[in-house]
Amino acid sequence: TVHGNTGGLKSGLLRGLERLYRRRCPPEALVTNDLAREMARLAAACNRQVGVLIDRGGSVELVLVGDHKSILIPVLPQVRSGRGRLKGLRCIHIHLAGEPLTQDDLSDLLFLRLDCMAAITVDAEGLPRQVHAAHLVPSSLAIDKPAPEDGGPAAKPAGKPWRLIEPQHPAEIQRRVDFRELVAALEGEFARLRPLAEVDKGRDRAILISVTTASKRLAQESMDELVELARSDDVVVLDTVIQQRRRIHPRWIMGKGKLGEIMLRALVLNANLLIFDQELNPSQIRSITDHTELRVIDRTQLILDIFARRARSREGRLQIEMAQLKYMLPRLTLRDDALSRLTGGIGGRGPGETKLEIDRRRINDRLAKLARRLRQVADERHRRRQRRRKKGLPVLSLVGYTNAGKSTLLNSLTKSDITAEDKLFATLDPTSRRLRFPRDIEVIVTDTVGFIRNLPAELLQAFRATLEELYEADVLVHVIDGASPRCRDQVRVVEELLADMDLDRLPMIRVLNKVDLLGAGQAARLARELEAVPVCALDRATFGPFIERAAALVEEKWRAVSGGGQSAAVLEDTA
Ligand code: GTP
Repeated sequence: TVHGNTGGLKSGLLRGLERLYRRRCPPEALVTNDLAREMARLAAACNRQVGVLIDRGGSVELVLVGDHKSILIPVLPQVRSGRGRLKGLRCIHIHLAGEPLTQDDLSDLLFLRLDCMAAITVDAEGLPRQVHAAHLVPSSLAIDKPAPEDGGPAAKPAGKPWRLIEPQHPAEIQRRVDFRELVAALEGEFARLRPLAEVDKGRDRAILISVTTASKRLAQESMDELVELARSDDVVVLDTVIQQRRRIHPRWIMGKGKLGEIMLRALVLNANLLIFDQELNPSQIRSITDHTELRVIDRTQLILDIFARRARSREGRLQIEMAQLKYMLPRLTLRDDALSRLTGGIGGRGPGETKLEIDRRRINDRLAKLARRLRQVADERHRRRQRRRKKGLPVLSLVGYTNAGKSTLLNSLTKSDITAEDKLFATLDPTSRRLRFPRDIEVIVTDTVGFIRNLPAELLQAFRATLEELYEADVLVHVIDGASPRCRDQVRVVEELLADMDLDRLPMIRVLNKVDLLGAGQAARLARELEAVPVCALDRATFGPFIERAAALVEEKWRAVSGGGQSAAVLEDTA
């Protein structure tokens, strides 16, 4: 069928347009004079632009009709011509008003990754006059140094991403330009910039984007954290882009030009994923996905994915599945084949591969079932806690920003072996250990999920049960990552969250961790400023002052609660 604005065309003309499908163009010719003449004739007869998309073998894949001034290329089938970076299709169309390539033509070239975009002007007799053509220029995006793995930005590209071929008559261009060679050279250039085989290790390769109305400093801090999050989720961070805007574009988030630039960088860097620091609404995700043909996720989805991978306990898994489903539900109706082409990976993992087919009702059923199971698990947990209470052991709960070193501290304190990794959210399930303090006090120490700024609401909700553990605590130990340049902010975020949960009424000790990474003077200064006890969680020899403080607080609290008698009994009991 002929695509586009075919309404009102005589059947003879339509048949003529259909016959374009039978035409072939030798692979080495951008366009032949014959084809150009026939298209010009049809365009003049319709008084509308006429275009074709030709594949690398020279077959006409699509015939298009526009209006007098423009032509619209429909969503193209996903790369049929194989493994290249370009689409394997070129667009040839007739310009009736004699204009060269327009901005729209060039942006189609870019967004659709066409092999080439050509507009043919016509003379007074309706014969083809000149071919105006352009192709992408990978080297304009040349990156001297690849972006470092830690997410530092790659060198920025320079120059226009396309090159114009000198306008000339179709017969002339056929004689002078070997199109097959041109395309091979382009693909070769792309491959040289980033060889496919070398980089493809089955990991997601992402460009991280923040579009914000906030200050540069805040945006950068949040971006640094997004890089950490992505790294924790085993994503290769290829580049980061921050754009400050007075207003977030309702559809594209950023300007369309900027989006084009990012898309080209994705092409050169061989990225398959865009991660936005801001929460995107479903239609934004869809617009950007459709335009860039890249998978698009936001910070919330990334965090959900990390949680999904890390959750170990039954309760943790149930909670995370619930959070993912809840996040997905409003976005469901908008998922269509634009996304199904890009399934797998973050946002495509988790609650089942078949999610595209699951309708709302089934998700709601599943949610209800999950909620029931969670209630059971929570009951079990409650009974466990009550047993613990009966034994009368005081509870010390570790809290802190993610990656602060809570698990490491718990491990060293109790010589157990809980996952401690230099990744965000290594711990997702509360874990409890017994610990004997000096003066024969025995306490339970529990580890909890790490805090993070802008914790997605879905997650806060999901992990409420986990965090409820904290209400059982007698003393909170706030572990602070002394080595993080953002530790003051992190302290604030954690304590604000605690206050939100009405936990600021509990006695708390601040512990400044990782002092081994600081100079002695700096550690002492920071500890004084934050009113924290310095420790190095990796070195038990540094625990003295902390344990002393903790034991004193526990004793004090216990005495206050039990009036002293029971405390002595418990102490004897555990001794
Ligand atoms: P979440 O599970 O994300 O909440 O993290 P966490 O607070 O439990 O942190 P974790 O114990 O997993 O430690 C994070 C990283 O910091 C690990 O690589 C630890 O080895 C490292 N780390 C923890 N404490 C210290 C310390 O005192 N000194 C140094 N140099 N590294 C530490």
